[in-house]
Amino acid sequence: MQKKKEIKILRNNNPIGIFDSGFGGLTVMSAINKALPSESLIYFGDTAHVPYGAKSQNAIIKFSKDITSFLISNKVKLIVVACNTASALALPVLEKTLKVPVIGVIAPGARAAVDASKKLRIGIIGTEGTIGSKSYPKAIKKLAKAKTYQQSCPLFVPLVEEGLTDGEITDSVVKKYIKPLLAKNIDTLVLGCTHYPLLRKILEKNLEKNIVLVDSAKSTVLEVKRILEQKSLLASKSGKKYLKFYVSDNPEKFKKIGKRFFSKNITDVKKINLTN
Ligand code: DGL
Repeated sequence: MQKKKEIKILRNNNPIGIFDSGFGGLTVMSAINKALPSESLIYFGDTAHVPYGAKSQNAIIKFSKDITSFLISNKVKLIVVACNTASALALPVLEKTLKVPVIGVIAPGARAAVDASKKLRIGIIGTEGTIGSKSYPKAIKKLAKAKTYQQSCPLFVPLVEEGLTDGEITDSVVKKYIKPLLAKNIDTLVLGCTHYPLLRKILEKNLEKNIVLVDSAKSTVLEVKRILEQKSLLASKSGKKYLKFYVSDNPEKFKKIGKRFFSKNITDVKKINLTN
């Protein structure tokens, strides 16, 4: 009941809140910005705590609660958990406690994988947290009778955060991680971490041509649009649109590296301390 009351006071031109541990969620923000150009967007990158991948579920839940409280204090009308690890480990808690609609990236990513796969032999790469939670195999199996094969790739996020998206070191790490999946004759590979679209080129170079790479950005955008339409919360075209960026540490690095993820310059980034 309380939840419904809160939704009633949400306004169309309020922003959408998006968060991730670092830069990765900017790939999702960029897709939302392109598809829904009238929407104002607020991004939070938890750069003080990145990487989330090997942290405990309790830690991820705490970080996610702190960030979503901050986003709600900025009057967001919807929250996108643009992080697979937080979607896997904290989304159920957020869904129960938040008074605005909240969506993760795993269900949309699973949908995209099932739509793309012909043989229903689907590989999934992600952080240790995402892979350990088995969230993708569970979400995929709800949609289709597919065979799923998982591989955690703990070195990928640090490589991407350092801007090492190509070159010899990254190439040998990619080879090591995808070898066991190639042995399973997958026809689809899910990029189960929002950092990984930045590794698309080097992954493609190392994969057989017939393997389709899937990330959740596009289908997450469709889900955002569906919810906003359903709740009559799409922003009006005449409204004043803005983009805001916040981080928990090192705004200068965020500006410098973030543009690669957002495909646009990021000029204004504020540092916020969320820990009590
Ligand atoms: N980009 C995030 C994900 O999708 C987090 C990666 C990390 O911080 O380890 O899982």
